[in-house]
Amino acid sequence: MRKTLVAALLLGASLGAQALDIRFAMEPSYPPFEMTNQKGEIIGFDVDVANAICKEIQANCSFQSQPFDGLIQGLKQKRFDAVISGMGITEARKKQVLFSEPYFASSAAFIAKKGTDFAKVKNIGVQNGTTYQNYVSKEKPEYRMKSYASYQEAILDVQNGRIDAIFGDVPVLVDMITKTPDLEFVGERIDNPTYFGNGLGIATNLKNQPLVDELNKGLAAIKVNGEYQKIYDKWMAV
Ligand code: ARG
Repeated sequence: MRKTLVAALLLGASLGAQALDIRFAMEPSYPPFEMTNQKGEIIGFDVDVANAICKEIQANCSFQSQPFDGLIQGLKQKRFDAVISGMGITEARKKQVLFSEPYFASSAAFIAKKGTDFAKVKNIGVQNGTTYQNYVSKEKPEYRMKSYASYQEAILDVQNGRIDAIFGDVPVLVDMITKTPDLEFVGERIDNPTYFGNGLGIATNLKNQPLVDELNKGLAAIKVNGEYQKIYDKWMAV
């Protein structure tokens, strides 16, 4: 009896040691993809997707907060293993990191204070290191761009008139409008895969194909077994 118990514990311990540990990083000013709750934990769509994938592939997941413009560098330096942070799968980023299959399709859009004439918009708020920053600096020289470490600061600035509009992913802007009713969508949505990518993906170090394979395996499984849909319905407004 004793022996069996010890053997079971040893077996458990050795299986535990073999389980894959995945350290995920993200920039959590981006609800519903990621945000911080009152206890300081990172929660959101991306966290639930990552946890569901980890359950499928029996990995131990942890989540850490990092500035968005440091995520790719962090992967290169192996300070964490994967990035799930509403990150667009662009050709430019693919030179620096590997991506999983897309886990979300998103469009780019603008929000501004209600009643704003889009033709008069001049000062645009974007986040450092994002596809939005890249797009405005290359394609919209007529705008004056203000870059933020977090989207929370951009919301404050659009409310007090320091910037005219915020440029970001549609689900995030929907979340902002819901929480801040004096804001609304202005202009048109932009779907430009060259700049904004072919969907959002989980990124890893360029040399970590085995991890990408595992993540893809888990992602495919949660799309089939209904877990992905449950997570989508929980976080994404219809
Ligand atoms: N989708 C944009 C990009 O790929 C913005 C992502 C910002 N994400 C975040 N968690 N702050 O650059």
